[in-house]
Amino acid sequence: MQENVSLQPHNTFGIQAHAQRFKAVTSVKELKQLLKQEQPTFILGGGSNILLTGDVSGLVLKNEIRGINILKENKEEAIVQFGGGEDWHQSVLWALDHGLGGIENLSLIPGTIGAAPIQNIGAYGVELQHVFVSLEAVYLKSGRSRVFHLSDCQFGYRDSVFKRRLKGKVFITSVTLRLTKKHRLRMSYGAIQKTLEGVVHPTIQDVSKAIIEIRQSKLPDPAELGNSGSFFKNPEIPVQQFNALKQQFPDIVFYELPNNQIKVPAGWLIEQCGWKGKRVGNTGAHSKQSLVLVNYGGATGQEVWNLAMDIKASVLDKFGISIHPEVNIVN
Ligand code: EPU
Repeated sequence: MQENVSLQPHNTFGIQAHAQRFKAVTSVKELKQLLKQEQPTFILGGGSNILLTGDVSGLVLKNEIRGINILKENKEEAIVQFGGGEDWHQSVLWALDHGLGGIENLSLIPGTIGAAPIQNIGAYGVELQHVFVSLEAVYLKSGRSRVFHLSDCQFGYRDSVFKRRLKGKVFITSVTLRLTKKHRLRMSYGAIQKTLEGVVHPTIQDVSKAIIEIRQSKLPDPAELGNSGSFFKNPEIPVQQFNALKQQFPDIVFYELPNNQIKVPAGWLIEQCGWKGKRVGNTGAHSKQSLVLVNYGGATGQEVWNLAMDIKASVLDKFGISIHPEVNIVN
């Protein structure tokens, strides 16, 4: 157990904040022992989807439970269990090395395996829930383990039961995924097709390379410029509201959803409000993707939060649409 530990190296925004006490956890047994002594105030994975708006009192536990095991396999697929503290992208690379597909579209997403189900990570037409089998978690209060199957997790767009009813109540120790040996490539996104133009029989490795190229072309590398990926979720609005907006803004970008809902990219809305590439103090909206807020160095969490709230207010003012943070706010 360490005291007064800087969390700056533990969050991709690069925000300076301290944990009163800090402990890296490397096994389920160790976790259960610790929980008997003290309840943590916060559980940290890769720190890639959080905004620290102040110091964290009490105990911060960092998930460093490792291990990758193939539980079952046949000619078609493999069921693989990943330790909650494994790095997400390294796990994708491990799968590719073993000829296993299903998560290549989720290449280069920062963060850990254990954090992936919390917001049901997704990109380029694939969400974690598409390959998810189950996860094991430990209830912080009782110290008991429980298996959560797909239907228990209530996955939605950037959403799960772990962001709602069970928020801050469990520690995800492992996640089990169903990976393919007979692959089904998902290349419907225009950018993927464009990058893979001329590749005759694309492989899962090719798709992964394309995704890496696309992400690197517009998303800032946290090692160079602090950020937490998309700061807001893409809002969904009723079709009537959308039709009215389309009259006023004929170029509005949109995706049709079931149930008469329309998804509008928050990045487009934010850009239209003039925020793209705009710097405010030590923070700003990224120049290539305005949905990503960045720390130019020395920003406080409060500063980023203030910018986010100004952006939210201007989007509401111009479009009448309320956008909501996708990152977890920690203080
Ligand atoms: N757009 C703009 N201006 C901007 C940003 C975007 O006009 O500043 C437009 C784009 O031109 C495009 C549309 O908005 O027509 C969508 O943009 P993009 O394809 O970049 O995707 P996104 O909706 O902004 C979502 C995810 C990303 C994920 C990509 C690709 C959310 C909140 N974000 O972004 O996830 O990588 O799709 O699937 O759903 C993350 O969660 O951290 C993340 C990066």
